[in-house]
Amino acid sequence: MFAASDLSALPKAELYEQLTAQISALIDGETDPVANMANCAALIFNSVPRLNWAGFYLLKGGELVLGPFQGRPACVRIAFGRGVVGTAADKRTTIRVADVNQFPGHIACDMASRSEIVVPMLAGDSHLLGVLDVDSPDLDRFDADDEAALKAIAKIIAAKL
Ligand code: SME
Repeated sequence: MFAASDLSALPKAELYEQLTAQISALIDGETDPVANMANCAALIFNSVPRLNWAGFYLLKGGELVLGPFQGRPACVRIAFGRGVVGTAADKRTTIRVADVNQFPGHIACDMASRSEIVVPMLAGDSHLLGVLDVDSPDLDRFDADDEAALKAIAKIIAAKL
């Protein structure tokens, strides 16, 4: 059985290197997308420090529908172009928000969230599958290193959807 080691105390570069390797190992050989996203949400949530939510929204019927996640219960359906999730999906680009209260139209699912990053998951260059959404209770929690690592992780997961 896969045994995830505790990464949360590692320096950031090493943490993400090991997290990426653990995610690859965890989903290697399993084809079920829900099982893979569920395990990835758990691994990210329990490995990356200072998070209050980590999970997926999937494109279904023209809107973003809540997928596997860790954290408090969240908004189930988000329209294209709405909130950070819908905007990242619409533009097919990663959106990093230092202060969610300054993002016009931010959807507050968990009042504890202060900063957020949403990474689109694409098949090929532009076919949208959904997004990876990660929230923090700390202001300005995510920097360019977090963004690069979460983009790489989203790409690995998207390849298994
Ligand atoms: N804050 C997001 C909604 C999803 S929750 O953060 C889990 C948004 O504005 O789209």
